[in-house]
Amino acid sequence: MKCRVCRQAAVIDVRRHNAYFCEEHFVRHCHRQVERAISDHKMLNSDERVLVAVSGGKDSLALWEILLTLGYKADGVFIGLGITEYSDDSSRFVERFVKDVAAPAGGSLVRLDLQTDFGFDVEGAADATGRAPCSACGLSKRHLFNTAALNGNYHAVATGHNLDDEAAVLFGNTLRWQTDFLRRQRPVLPDGNGFPRKVKPMIRLSERETAAYCIVQGIDYQVDECPMSAGNSHIRYKEMLNMLEESSPGSKAEFYGGFLRNLAPILDEATPDGETQRTIRPCDQCGSPTDNEVCSFCRLLQRVRPETSPTGGTRSD
Ligand code: AMP
Ligand code: FES
Ligand code: ZN
Ligand code: ZN
Repeated sequence: MKCRVCRQAAVIDVRRHNAYFCEEHFVRHCHRQVERAISDHKMLNSDERVLVAVSGGKDSLALWEILLTLGYKADGVFIGLGITEYSDDSSRFVERFVKDVAAPAGGSLVRLDLQTDFGFDVEGAADATGRAPCSACGLSKRHLFNTAALNGNYHAVATGHNLDDEAAVLFGNTLRWQTDFLRRQRPVLPDGNGFPRKVKPMIRLSERETAAYCIVQGIDYQVDECPMSAGNSHIRYKEMLNMLEESSPGSKAEFYGGFLRNLAPILDEATPDGETQRTIRPCDQCGSPTDNEVCSFCRLLQRVRPETSPTGGTRSD
């Protein structure tokens, strides 16, 4: 098969676009999809500083590389979650990427570690709360992305969520008609109330494309899935959507794109700032914005290590 642009031998097909690409034009295709997501949804201005949340996986490392290549001032933040070898390996992939790709292009890394900085890990949090590990993990990541972005004066936090991720989350939210979650699923959440802007510039690329991008660009990444996520519903939804995509290429993009075109604007009109009508105030313990006296991260800390103070360090009294 021949590349749609230059007619040289193709290395990949993108069935959703009914297109084949050579390496060079596949890379350009990926860059263009990210540029389009950024401009269509007004995610970033070219002079803004962005903090990319990097897990060591293909999507977030590809995202950081693409943003640097497109000329954005992009640094990274990695959170050590204490999930045995999985976290150690992920950390090594991030370190190598920083040394080989990000640092030479001017990007630096902020490193945080749940165990070292806050005295707990994801498994300990799951035991203490009696809830799925992903719940404490997600909550901690969201809190730490926000504080890292605000402490470092970044305009926005970018995550590597791709088309497959967003379509699967959309499916779950629609299945239960969780309108609050649907509202917050937009690819850009504006800053305000002490929260930084959140953006997802990879929404126009599928998992298969981000993996191929990393291979073509020589980016080594963590291939394994988090061991804690085995069997969760998100993975089942992805499998199901993959079956659908196989028989009808473009279904995922249709499903998610239709949400952005048809439902998101209606939800936006209902609450234009992206928030429900909550009263936001500073957390009594750490000062982060919250709709409670104490934010959910500090409440989690109280449960996982009740003998210590909520924001790090042992209480001195
Ligand atoms: P996940 O929730 O694991 O699918 O990850 C979604 C996005 O969150 C990734 O693409 C990253 O941008 C970010 N992310 C996940 N895990 C980490 C981590 N340990 N440190 C920093 N960012 C992360
Ligand atoms: Fe958070 Fe697996 S990455 S529980
Ligand atoms: Zn070509
Ligand atoms: Zn707090």
